[in-house]
Amino acid sequence: MSEMRQAALDRVAKTFVRTSECHEAEESFDKLMSLGPLAGGLCLLICGESGVGKSTLVRWLTRNLKTFRDEAGWSRSVVCIQIPTSPTAIGIFEALLAALGDPKPSRGTRSMKKRRLVKMLRDQGVKLIVLDDLQHVVDRTSDRVIFDASEAIKEILIDCPVSVLCAGLADAERVVGSNEQLTRRHMSTVYLPRFDWQCKKSKHSFIGVLKAFESSLKGYDLPELLNESVALRFYLATGGIMDFVFKLFLFAAQIALEKKLSAIGPGVFAEAWKMAFLHSAKFENPFLGNVDVEQSVKDRIERAKRINLPPCMTLARSTGAKDRLRKVGL
Ligand SMILES: Nc1ncnc2c1ncn2[C@@H]1O[C@H](COP(=O)(O)OP(=O)(O)OP(=O)(O)O)[C@@H](O)[C@H]1O
Ligand SMILES: [Mg+2]
Repeated sequence: MSEMRQAALDRVAKTFVRTSECHEAEESFDKLMSLGPLAGGLCLLICGESGVGKSTLVRWLTRNLKTFRDEAGWSRSVVCIQIPTSPTAIGIFEALLAALGDPKPSRGTRSMKKRRLVKMLRDQGVKLIVLDDLQHVVDRTSDRVIFDASEAIKEILIDCPVSVLCAGLADAERVVGSNEQLTRRHMSTVYLPRFDWQCKKSKHSFIGVLKAFESSLKGYDLPELLNESVALRFYLATGGIMDFVFKLFLFAAQIALEKKLSAIGPGVFAEAWKMAFLHSAKFENPFLGNVDVEQSVKDRIERAKRINLPPCMTLARSTGAKDRLRKVGL
């Protein structure tokens, strides 16, 4: 029984749900990869709020792109970096050099680094550059695209016109829009929204996610997760953010392991929710039996939609102040 519990926890930790949004992104990604080389490089941006699963989606999309080493050296179809906060051109060159296996990425002047980078990209046959957290190229204090960093991306693409897959918060769109090398190559942005209980398709997708975690927890007695009124409690608990859904199940599986339980009922989810989330301090616990979630359900859903928004964004959503949205990059 304890092996069953440990195996369930491990399965939850590894669960990846291929939502319909993942499939839509995959269609665009396949075009990026097949037509990119014929079009002198294309750019695809995956854009969405924090925790909706952008980085995870990028890892899944690029899972089949091979990296290997033979007597001729490294061969990499893809090179991935996370844009550092407040990036400089040198910071971007060094991050790419490190990802390409350069033993001393900080060696040399700016132009030496760039030359070495372009040579390594060509020698290793890189077909795709992944730039995650692209919104870091916008300086939050001045609200401007950081010229130096954007210029570095442009220079690389001029010398080595490969395709680029970017991911980031809404500010990432401004980076793409201000960089002519990226703009010219840009395909339609793939938006990855949080799940929305009031949209039929999105609700269906959310319930599909619960179903996937239900099968990861096989061996336990569970609530009827596919029942809409049960699923609504999970939506209210997580605000439709994938990361929170994942953590809720992860914490619940850990509690069940520690307490040697054979069932993960509402009480376990209530405890997991309280422990896992900062927002639990401000919300009524949706897993408690005495909480009637159907009562004033619209208000509850509206509140859930604001889970994990920055404070001024929360205000902006209720007042409709668009400039506030822009200021927080959403
Ligand atoms: N399709 C998925 N199936 C299952 N779990 C997922 C999926 N996508 C994301 N997750 C879970 O959510 C967590 C957060 O996802 P991820 O880091 O990809 O979000 P993000 O959008 O990149 O956030 P940020 O903008 O803060 O970087 C992941 O660690 C993973 O556990
Ligand atoms: Mg990410």
